[in-house]
Amino acid sequence: MKAVTWQGKRDVRVEEVPDPGIREPDDVIIRVTSSGVCGSDLHLYEVMTPYLNEGDVLGHEAMGVVEEAGPEVTAVSPGDRVVVPFNVSCGHCWMCSQGLHSQCETTQQREHGTGAALFGYTVLYGEVPGGQAEYLRVPFGNALPIKVPEGPSDDRFLFLSDVLPTAWQAVEYAGVPDGGTLLVLGLGPIGEMATRIAQHRGYRVLGVDLVTDRLERAGSHGVEVYDLREHDDDDLVERVREATDGRGPDSVLDAVGMEAHGAPVAKAMQQATGLLPGVLQRKLMETASIDRLHALYLAIELVRRGGTISISGVYGGMADPMPMRVLFDKQIQIRMGQANVLRWVPEIMPLLLDGDPLGTDAFASHRVPLSDAPAAYEKFQKKEDGSFKVVLQP
Ligand SMILES: NC(=O)c1ccc[n+]([C@@H]2O[C@H](COP(=O)([O-])OP(=O)(O)OC[C@H]3O[C@@H](n4cnc5c(N)ncnc54)[C@H](O)[C@@H]3O)[C@@H](O)[C@H]2O)c1
Ligand SMILES: [Zn+2]
Ligand SMILES: [Zn+2]
Repeated sequence: MKAVTWQGKRDVRVEEVPDPGIREPDDVIIRVTSSGVCGSDLHLYEVMTPYLNEGDVLGHEAMGVVEEAGPEVTAVSPGDRVVVPFNVSCGHCWMCSQGLHSQCETTQQREHGTGAALFGYTVLYGEVPGGQAEYLRVPFGNALPIKVPEGPSDDRFLFLSDVLPTAWQAVEYAGVPDGGTLLVLGLGPIGEMATRIAQHRGYRVLGVDLVTDRLERAGSHGVEVYDLREHDDDDLVERVREATDGRGPDSVLDAVGMEAHGAPVAKAMQQATGLLPGVLQRKLMETASIDRLHALYLAIELVRRGGTISISGVYGGMADPMPMRVLFDKQIQIRMGQANVLRWVPEIMPLLLDGDPLGTDAFASHRVPLSDAPAAYEKFQKKEDGSFKVVLQP
């Protein structure tokens, strides 16, 4: 089959790889019909290179049709339409039963001290072949695939694999009081979806980014947007305070992560890391601060005293400096983590079946064949050509 493979820093290629097969009696194989490219894939494209191997199949946002099911699978059958969560979670361990699917104890990567395995996401998360491919092997066929009805287009359901539950959890973890104010840093797919969910819940929503079409997209549905290119940090904090009774928003959601614009020293570090041999790269990432923490620092400044910060942006360094004095003094609460996809599906699904209040049908900006993946990755990274959410259609 054809698949998008990682070949090196900023180098993904569509290659011929072996078809996946049933390995465990509860595996299913799906024929992928749509597969998203995510901001998290951009970390693999550039910064996380020490943790990938040439030929790794990328992708963690897939849906399709069950092609084959192992003998113990009863929950789905060939021909069923399914979405695949990005966490590889068993559904029955202690963590899964607490709704903490991203910490699944059956697939935790203890060797690396990390949580549940993820599709298409580095040796740290199990090096599981991903879904930017014609076919995908899905373990835990009785628990993991989400069955969705025929009818609406793929786009309606595809984002259940990641964007919707991630944004949902991020808003949930932001702990916004009733009628309160949420500021979202980063208006990529995750941040943008979070603004829609927050508006749906009746919060006042502010947003910050530095890409014109992303600011416009959020502004077009009533988000009060701030362009980072027009304000230095102090000025931004002041403007936002003025707009929020002099206090700052109740909650701030960081939907940016480790490649935040700004922080030139960390950027140089990230680039230097990519040039070292593999073992040294990993050592450096584990001992030095490689995250560009600009968005997180901004979140800490912006949030009101006694407020909450919710981090959905992914961070990867192990020794990043944090302003503990300010966090302590402002009495800030912080929640973060990979989304527990299956935890939120029952709450989100009704919004997909009854009309489309979150606007998933028109959420993607580009739908392209698998063969266009290399160009799509490049444009998405550079945020060119209005590239916002790319859906690959194998
Ligand atoms: N927690 C999870 O389970 C989970 C799941 C999916 C994605 N993510 C992470 O969420 C983040 C966003 O994903 P995405 O797909 O929306 O990616 P994206 O790269 O398209 O979006 C990031 C946005 O942040 C903006 N930005 C950059 N620096 C900024 C700054 N200093 N202040 C404000 N905005 C800034 C960029 O212009 C961009 O629009 C990524 O870090 C991704 O890895 C986490
Ligand atoms: Zn994703
Ligand atoms: Zn589990």
